[in-house]
Amino acid sequence: DTGCFTYDNGFTATASCKSAITYIDGDAGVLMYRGYPIEQLAEHSSFLEVAYLLMNGELPTEQKFASFADDIAHHTMLHEAFKQFIGGFRHDAHPMAMLMGMLGSMASFYHNNHDYDDPEQRHLAAIRLIAKVPTIAAACYRYSMGWPLRFPRNNLEYVTRFLHMMFEVPSEPLQMNPVAAKALDLLFILHADHEQNASTSTVRMVGSTGANPYACIASGVAALWGPAHGGANEAVLKMLNEIGSPANVQNAIDKAKDKESGFRLMGFGHRVYKNFDPRAKIIREMTYKVLNELGVNDPLLDVAMKLEEAALKDDYFIQRKLYPNVDFYSGIIYKALKIPTDMFTVMFAIARTSGWVAHWLEQQADPEQKIGRPRQIYVGHDKRDYVAIDKR
Ligand code: SDX
Repeated sequence: DTGCFTYDNGFTATASCKSAITYIDGDAGVLMYRGYPIEQLAEHSSFLEVAYLLMNGELPTEQKFASFADDIAHHTMLHEAFKQFIGGFRHDAHPMAMLMGMLGSMASFYHNNHDYDDPEQRHLAAIRLIAKVPTIAAACYRYSMGWPLRFPRNNLEYVTRFLHMMFEVPSEPLQMNPVAAKALDLLFILHADHEQNASTSTVRMVGSTGANPYACIASGVAALWGPAHGGANEAVLKMLNEIGSPANVQNAIDKAKDKESGFRLMGFGHRVYKNFDPRAKIIREMTYKVLNELGVNDPLLDVAMKLEEAALKDDYFIQRKLYPNVDFYSGIIYKALKIPTDMFTVMFAIARTSGWVAHWLEQQADPEQKIGRPRQIYVGHDKRDYVAIDKR
């Protein structure tokens, strides 16, 4: 409670805020949302119920959940003008670029008449963001495929509705596989929130200036995109494809140990977890089950398993407490669900929108909150006088 933390490499950090949303114990491998262990939520809850929990602090009664799900369902549509907006992107634009742009532009559709000092308006913005992010994500995918955009079906539950908007094409009825929806729902639960990670801290930093919620969430998407953060799931698949077979795993391990190479094992390591990422454990088990149930046999799973086995036995990784993180196996499941690689981080963003929104609500409701203003250690020049250009 001093608010000071010391990382393994001796770096110290001071807490950027107080929050009651998520608790992590990096050494013990503990993750809890509002006090509920991630393992229990993964087994018993749904993503939309977890989104309610993160936002409101309590699990909903049946009646409250029904009304929340109804609110979300009735805010999934996009303003028709979004079609012109999305039409301005190149057909091969990265979906994260499109998602960031579209979310930020929501400020021009829904912002100019909202007073975010009013808790009702804050709640409405939160509902709009959680409801529309899957519609926007699916629109980005369909635009890249040259397919017509799909309207959200309000009679479907959240994740099934998203898969329908992603993959339904007029020429044939979509075979909705319940295994796929259940697997994606679980991945969304596991990615929903994670305390003050880089993108959530960014959302809170932007929120601390009083910027509108759409600008805040768009800044979270920007931060998440980086390969050191949410972009890692896409980078893991690229790495596994480059390794190609279990026989090449040792070369990858050796390259990751050679600092000069600048190569890191994507999906390994974590700023906070110096033990197994509890989410990675759940996703690891889930990967076998989902691929089995879908009848998918992906050789990359053998490469991933061999890489994990070799790294966990290697002193370099053991000494640095580098374990698989949430991103190591998730891409193999997304691939089995026929989600294209460049949409993997978009999946992360859909899930994390619930966490980002919960943190924004918590921050905006705090009358004591101040503008974020980190300080620095100055390592530049001492004072010196200006020199005219002809004297330099
Ligand atoms: C996410 O913060 C969150 O909570 C994030 C997240 C969330 O839910 O929001 O959990 C999601 O972003 C997970 C992380 C996904 N990123 C990756 O998988 C990319 C690969 N991993 C890394 O680049 C790295 O591990 C980080 C970015 C995750 C952490 O980087 P740090 O803090 O620089 O790592 P560190 O200080 O713990 O490194 C200690 C040592 C260093 O070597 P030395 O200088 O001590 O000799 O371990 C080395 C690092 O070079 N190292 C790695 C490595 N990660 C760290 N070496 C090889 N492969 C790696 N993946």
